Amino acid sequence: MERVYVFDTTLRDGEQVPGCQLNTIEKIQIAKELELLGVDVIEAGFPISSPGDFNSIVEISKAVTWPTICALTRAVEKDIEVAAESLKYAKRKRIHTGIGTSDSHIKHKFNSNREEIIERAVKAVKYARRFVDDVEFYAEDAGRTDNEYLARVVQAVVNAGATVVNIPDTTGYCFPHQYGAKIKYLIDNVDMKNSILSTHCHQDLGMATANTIAGVINGARQVEVTINGIGERAGNTSLEEVVMALKSHKDLGYDTNINTQKIYSTSRLVSTMMNMPVQPNKAIVGRNAFAHSSGIHQDGVLKNVETYEIIDPKDVGVDENSIVLTARSGRAALKSRLNLLGVEVDESELEVIYEKFLALADTKKDIKDEDILQLVGKEYVKRRIKIDYLQVTCGIGLRNVASIGLDIAGEHFEASATGNGPVDAAITAVKKIISRETTIQEFLIQAINRGSDDVGKVHMQVEHKGMLYYGFSANTDIVSASVEAFIDAVNKFVE
Ligand code: KIV
Ligand code: ZN
Repeated sequence: MERVYVFDTTLRDGEQVPGCQLNTIEKIQIAKELELLGVDVIEAGFPISSPGDFNSIVEISKAVTWPTICALTRAVEKDIEVAAESLKYAKRKRIHTGIGTSDSHIKHKFNSNREEIIERAVKAVKYARRFVDDVEFYAEDAGRTDNEYLARVVQAVVNAGATVVNIPDTTGYCFPHQYGAKIKYLIDNVDMKNSILSTHCHQDLGMATANTIAGVINGARQVEVTINGIGERAGNTSLEEVVMALKSHKDLGYDTNINTQKIYSTSRLVSTMMNMPVQPNKAIVGRNAFAHSSGIHQDGVLKNVETYEIIDPKDVGVDENSIVLTARSGRAALKSRLNLLGVEVDESELEVIYEKFLALADTKKDIKDEDILQLVGKEYVKRRIKIDYLQVTCGIGLRNVASIGLDIAGEHFEASATGNGPVDAAITAVKKIISRETTIQEFLIQAINRGSDDVGKVHMQVEHKGMLYYGFSANTDIVSASVEAFIDAVNKFVE
């Protein structure tokens, strides 16, 4: 197998996204997680851009041992000096310098010409090599740079000492066959010495993963990616997609150092810390990535998971696939769920229950286990936990305090708590009463329409003893909806 190096830029390209900014402590936590995940390079920031970015690179360099720590610069001497300074504690360090090479960048950004840009690129690489042995050069907007000129730039920076040359499709413009051909052209026309080419693809046309894989197939040996694909505009290539694509297509002969079983937990951590929900249908890490809802698929999966699953969910750290009962589910899925609920039925009983199930599923989107039990005439096990009342104080200049009364199997309990916001206060109060180890793994609040009188839908995934439980609620009061969703999830594991 040939090794493909994984360069993670969640903390640089990903962190540039409005609303995703992290403080140094949070960045260190993510960097340590990336180290456990097995990335080869962590791009930790753009140190000249702010004292905060500079400081984060210093602290990440101290906290992380194995991955190379990389700092971004423009092809400007001051940037390079500051980057070198920020990396002083890194055990392995890389400066990532570069300049725009497309005609549009040369003319509009630099008011320059092709020859001058090559000179500036060479000068920057040589200057960076004075400070570190590992220098990566990026040819910004390489996706729209003419291949012949790009090859001249790449040859010049390799000669100047670049160890890695990054070919960014900065605007996400290329098709996979074009990006692949670009990499091949460079491999065929540049003497790369011991240097390697890197992919860095953006998602503007939804091609980032396909372009990255095309780059690898044509000779790139480093991939630049972010967790959950976060990044400028539509985002960057996502780590989980590229790694799992290479792993699933072993026949291609490429390998990475990623411990894939840590993918899901890393995705959750990044999503939570960066306030960026993962879309439910996101490949590999979305809530529905392993959920089967159509009857034909459910039947196949129940006979043999390989029929509709190319990845074992456990390989990415997801405990199991899920069969979601809907109006499109077949008899096999219903029977399997009944068996899981401890109900054995013969063929004729199943037929009768299935008819009732279809009638119910036509009127109700979310079929719960209690509904299934009711269909077979079993005693409906009442939800054990119900909210008697919830009172929350919050506001600007006020402490966030919540008091809650819960009915648990007919008994009344009360608790109060403070928190960093009203939801945190209310859920902390609930946790005081239920006293179970729980971690909220996903917390998504969505407005249905747009007005201030809108209903907020809350989806929540709660982890308890290594299992994930899903809770949902909708309410005009989003604090109440959040607590209801939490209790909906908890009710699935309390005995
Ligand atoms: O997209 C891009 O071109 C970049 C470079 C700075 C590497 O992020
Ligand atoms: Zn980028």
